[in-house]
Amino acid sequence: MILLQLSYQIPARLLDGVSTLAIVCTQWGDTGKGKFVDFFAEWADIIARGTGGANAGHTIVIGGKTYVFHLIPSGILYDSAGKINVIGNGVAFDPRILIEELAILAQEGLSFNNLLIAHNARLVLPQHILMDRLRENSLDGSRIGTTGRGIGPAYVDHYARVGLTVNDMLNVDSLRRKLERNLAEKRKLLTHYDPLLIQQIMDHPHLGAGAFFHPSKFFDDDAIVEQYLMYGETLRLLIKDTDQILHDAVGKKRILLEGAQGTLLSIDYGTYPFVTASDCSVQGLARGVGIRERHVDRAFGIVKAFYMTRVGEGPFPTEIGGEQSAKWCNDPLTTKDREAELYPDASVNSSDPFEQGIGIRRAGYEYGRTTRRPRRTGWLDLPLLRYSLRYSGRDAILTKLDVLDNCEMIQICTSYRYDGPPYSIGEQQLVPGTMLRIAIPHVEVMRYCVPQYRSFRGWCRNTSDAKAFRELPIQLRELILFVAREADLNIVLLSVGPDREQTIAMETN
Ligand code: GDP
Ligand code: IMO
Ligand code: MG
Repeated sequence: MILLQLSYQIPARLLDGVSTLAIVCTQWGDTGKGKFVDFFAEWADIIARGTGGANAGHTIVIGGKTYVFHLIPSGILYDSAGKINVIGNGVAFDPRILIEELAILAQEGLSFNNLLIAHNARLVLPQHILMDRLRENSLDGSRIGTTGRGIGPAYVDHYARVGLTVNDMLNVDSLRRKLERNLAEKRKLLTHYDPLLIQQIMDHPHLGAGAFFHPSKFFDDDAIVEQYLMYGETLRLLIKDTDQILHDAVGKKRILLEGAQGTLLSIDYGTYPFVTASDCSVQGLARGVGIRERHVDRAFGIVKAFYMTRVGEGPFPTEIGGEQSAKWCNDPLTTKDREAELYPDASVNSSDPFEQGIGIRRAGYEYGRTTRRPRRTGWLDLPLLRYSLRYSGRDAILTKLDVLDNCEMIQICTSYRYDGPPYSIGEQQLVPGTMLRIAIPHVEVMRYCVPQYRSFRGWCRNTSDAKAFRELPIQLRELILFVAREADLNIVLLSVGPDREQTIAMETN
């Protein structure tokens, strides 16, 4: 067993009087939740995920070694002191992926006996992955750019009251009965799709490489039942009533809630319909582990600064390189290597915005952990941040400050000018020229929002070794304080690199 040594200090004042802490993202995901869940895991007794599923990719770097988790909570690397890691009821749970991740931990000599899975978590089945991918293949403009992990259809089934839960893997009769009912509905829908495309998707390794395919019925019920019973057997000892465990722990133990995705991807508050299918805000996270939001004593919202990223389709007003960047990043043929080959000189200072976007992507290593897609990059958008803070509160962690170390000029979007046709939001009428300080996340509005920028000189110095705010270059300090003032943020921590130690406490918080 590898024992991970603590080599950093969590400022005690951040957690004064806190029993339940949430780490959430204020943007479109990939802001560094994994790093900060791992950072605070040292403090916590219980680390719990409550939203999303294997669409997430959370990276943790410890002493130069990188771990990426999709389903396992990012606190798993602290396994020596009786900590518990929980996959809560709100998670869309794919047992195949969890078992793969557990095998990787085992290879590393790390234990996972402290992992618990909610018996009532929503189960992801092969039909969900198929439906997700079929929809993404359609040419009618309804593509979301999902991760193809079956997340949307699994939640749809839950709300349509035909979903299965983790516990169904432990009971052959209910598994078969619920599965047959679920598949009967899917079969009716599938008659509208191209059978060859169905077969091609069912041949994908994420769908058992054809093992669940039936040539006339689309699905082989027996094969699915058999496989999921096997998963159930493998995981049986980990499956528990975790809602009760969390309920009993509230106020008595230290609970750390790990957000997935980000507020702008929330099904309830995000840039709908270009969102994921769970509510990744603090509220959704609390509900997804079976506790009430008022039990969350403090929430830290992560802000990637001074640029942001988005994966998949959807509006992104500050995208560097605009439409060209969106098209390039969403083209399935675009890979990191192809980008490197075609644009070897792209840098954070390229005069062509499209190449500058690539330069920032490269500097921040912004390539998806789940799908390997290049993440679209844009400047920090304060109207969206102000909007997002409604749902996560003012306490913030700024990450990836080091990525723009060599950037000579940095743009921050401080407001939008609406430039579209007249549009009503309730009684408010938007007309060309209307200025917006807080974003309105309707696609019909966002697509016509022209960012108004303020330019800042960069610092052009390495910051990744800085240990205190005062060691940071003056230009960077001023920029941090500007963003704090403009968005009314209470910044508690700064991050200047992926490692735990590359974290700086703000002195006044
Ligand atoms: P998550 O989904 O929010 O957990 O974020 P991801 O793991 O998908 O992406 C964040 C990436 O940024 C990871 O590769 C992290 O290791 C890395 N990272 C986190 N904080 C920092 C930072 O302050 N500086 C740099 N350079 N990388 C960081
Ligand atoms: P973490 O937790 C970034 C995006 C997808 C797509 C949309 C819907 O690592 O921050 P889905 O597969 O959920 O139905 O896809 O949501 N998306 C993410 N983008 N980070 C994530 O997770 C994401 N999880 C989903 O790219 O646009
Ligand atoms: Mg991620």
